Amino acid sequence: MAESVRDLLAREGAGGRVSVQGWLRTARHSKNVSFLEVSDGSCFAGIQVVAAPDLSNYEDAVAKLTTGCAVRASGELVDSPGKGQRYEIHADEVDVVGGVEDDYPLQKKRHSFEFLRTIGHLRPRTNTLGAVLRVRNAASRVIHDFFQQRGFVMLHSPVITRSDAEGAGEMFRVTTLDPDDPPRGEDGRVDASQDFFGGASFLTVSGQLEAEIGALSLSKVYTFGPTFRAENSHTSRHLAEFWMVEPEVAFCDLSGLADLAEDFLKAVFRGVLESCPDDIEFFNERIDKSVLETLQHVIETPFERITYSEAVKILEQSGCSFEFPVAWGTDLQSEHERFLAEEHIGRPVVVTDYPKDIKAFYMYLNDDEKTVAALDVLVPKVGEIIGGSQREHRHDVLLRRIDEHGLSREPYWWYLDLRRYGSVPHAGFGLGFDRVVQFMTGMENIRDVSPFPRVPGHAEF
Ligand code: 4AD
Ligand code: MG
Repeated sequence: MAESVRDLLAREGAGGRVSVQGWLRTARHSKNVSFLEVSDGSCFAGIQVVAAPDLSNYEDAVAKLTTGCAVRASGELVDSPGKGQRYEIHADEVDVVGGVEDDYPLQKKRHSFEFLRTIGHLRPRTNTLGAVLRVRNAASRVIHDFFQQRGFVMLHSPVITRSDAEGAGEMFRVTTLDPDDPPRGEDGRVDASQDFFGGASFLTVSGQLEAEIGALSLSKVYTFGPTFRAENSHTSRHLAEFWMVEPEVAFCDLSGLADLAEDFLKAVFRGVLESCPDDIEFFNERIDKSVLETLQHVIETPFERITYSEAVKILEQSGCSFEFPVAWGTDLQSEHERFLAEEHIGRPVVVTDYPKDIKAFYMYLNDDEKTVAALDVLVPKVGEIIGGSQREHRHDVLLRRIDEHGLSREPYWWYLDLRRYGSVPHAGFGLGFDRVVQFMTGMENIRDVSPFPRVPGHAEF
């Protein structure tokens, strides 16, 4: 069995016959020797294979290898005289496993991220996307570790649901009815009762409501799965399908939740820095020179905490001319969020107690009856990375809030029931996983940190 490049490079010393297999990042041929850089995605670096003309297939095969070819190579592991590489392999055997045709689109030159999106089947072979995928993997593991170490139970929330968790009506419909000839009721409208699930059903926008079921029985739970939003957003921070991490905690209020959010984000950043130093180093050198410093600073300093009302005052007094005007009662736009986190405060900020009319129906109504116990965590460059709240656990108030939001009580019957049977104060938040990866890598566009981004007009690959 071939060893991974990662394991080979981590060896204590050179020596011995080893094998690697992977794809060529580069192939340089001169008269007496070929230098093949083999990458298998196990780590940022590749390993150099040096092949000489004494190989039996040198002229026919090895000397013709080009970028992208798949090879298996064996030989002696030796200390490399080259700069920036610890070992190289002096090959006694190089098998060409898969050649590439002439129109292989990935060449050594730099390609634009826009172009790479059009070749989603090949872009994970680039430095950048490979590093992104390893950072995603490390972040997932750290997230599970964080909650598992604290006694949270992972809850698998459903992907298909009949309730709109955010009440915002941005859901993708799931149906098996024939779009050209759906069954209709007497009123001429499509009869959803004949659909697969016996009623209108959708892809979930959030696992929160089900996480609340979990918290009100297992005390501390978290979900980690894909969520879907049919919002027509063409920004660098929005996907129509993204992964969300949603912890939910019983007997917890807003300030306990803010503590959890801060500990959690710091643990994720710390854990990824430890697991993928080479990948983060690359992002720091090639994508955004402030990534490492920012991460270190965020890990070391306490987050700022301010109320929405204070945030509005800061923005009003900032002297900045924003595209969207600020006034108490309007939602904070990305430019406002970034001003607060990036310029005014210079580190992550937890904004709490938003006006009730701009937030979801399930948030705990504060005594002032004007604001709800919500929190958003804003970070430099990305803006909102976490959104959460203490939940409304009082049955009568929740009923009123559902009505005020113009929502139908019917699909929320079980959610309301939880407020009649042993209801307790509880709180939770949602972390946008792709936005965390964006923040940690400094990538400009969220489409370039998702392996298969889904945005309006695009669901290829
Ligand atoms: O603020 P949001 O909409 O909150 C919820 O869905 C709550 N139910 C979460 C909870 O309390 N359990 O979304 C949570 C986070 C946002 O802060 C953002 O990071 C991310 O999810 N997010 C998106 N990420 C990428 N593309 C989108 N279209 C996103 N919408 C939200
Ligand atoms: Mg939000």
